[in-house]
Amino acid sequence: MNKAEIHLTAGTGLEVELLPFGATIRSIRLFGQELTLNYPQSTDYQTDEFYLGATAGRVANRIAKGRFELNGVAYQLDCNNGPNHLHGGVTGFNRQLWQVLKQQPDSVQLYLHSADGDQGYPGALQVWQQFRIVDQQLELSFLALSNKDTVLNLTNHCYFNLNNDGTSIENHQLQLTATHYLPTDEHAIPTGERRAVAGTAFDFSQAKLVGPALKLQDPQLALANGFDHCFIWQGAEAADLKRMALLSSEQSGRQLEVFSTQPGLQLYTGNFLAAPFVSRQGICLEAQGWPDAINQLGFPTTQLKAGELYQQQIVYKFS
Ligand code: GLA
Repeated sequence: MNKAEIHLTAGTGLEVELLPFGATIRSIRLFGQELTLNYPQSTDYQTDEFYLGATAGRVANRIAKGRFELNGVAYQLDCNNGPNHLHGGVTGFNRQLWQVLKQQPDSVQLYLHSADGDQGYPGALQVWQQFRIVDQQLELSFLALSNKDTVLNLTNHCYFNLNNDGTSIENHQLQLTATHYLPTDEHAIPTGERRAVAGTAFDFSQAKLVGPALKLQDPQLALANGFDHCFIWQGAEAADLKRMALLSSEQSGRQLEVFSTQPGLQLYTGNFLAAPFVSRQGICLEAQGWPDAINQLGFPTTQLKAGELYQQQIVYKFS
């Protein structure tokens, strides 16, 4: 069964549209107001370059030079982002057709079989992703199983915009509960340092406006042309569901809280969005493992052992 589009509702005012292609969130509407960026046609997603609403995998974010070593074997993946591998490669999970396993009015389970060697990654991998509406929350649950040791880091790549007048996310208030973030080099690879946010442009411990934060003088902001950095929850590898982010628009009165079991959250302010969108039209709050973790000493592991169950959750709570 592969329907072109999946509509979820629980009769609570929250309505979600999904596409099996890329396990993509196409639309999230609260009482009729659209809260994510989307394309007019579902076929537009096949040529999308912004990972709009998609599931990013096998390994979301970057792997330096597309290289890593596992059990003494060296792997070389595609480099599809300058010198690095991004979001699982040229035909990542965002460009694969997921199977619709089970559909109910308020939930759906999608499934993807990724063959051993898919995009260069080891292990035949099975992935189940459930989307479910509970009250005014959209819950994403990821389960995966590999037949060989491999590396895995799944996330969703929605671009949120909570305004109802079409203006940019610069007027949004953002709060992040993280105390540290990962500074990067000029190709967005973490340097290995865990830097305290306190007293920097990256300090969102109290809610603040995104626009003015983007204008602050900080070499890290200049490197990435805005925020494109992973905020981290140290010692949170134990995978409790944490409240990570609060995003709100005073213009519309809408707000979004992000909860996840993941140890990091990539804040991306739509720096490279281009036609048919414009830069800063959407903001991504991507709960995920730390970028390039497979090559970085002391980062929480993104390895998945053969036969071990991968389990992560992301919750978007709207009001
Ligand atoms: C992630 C990356 C960004 C960019 C977008 C997709 O958020 O961190 O640098 O590649 O995906 O455009």
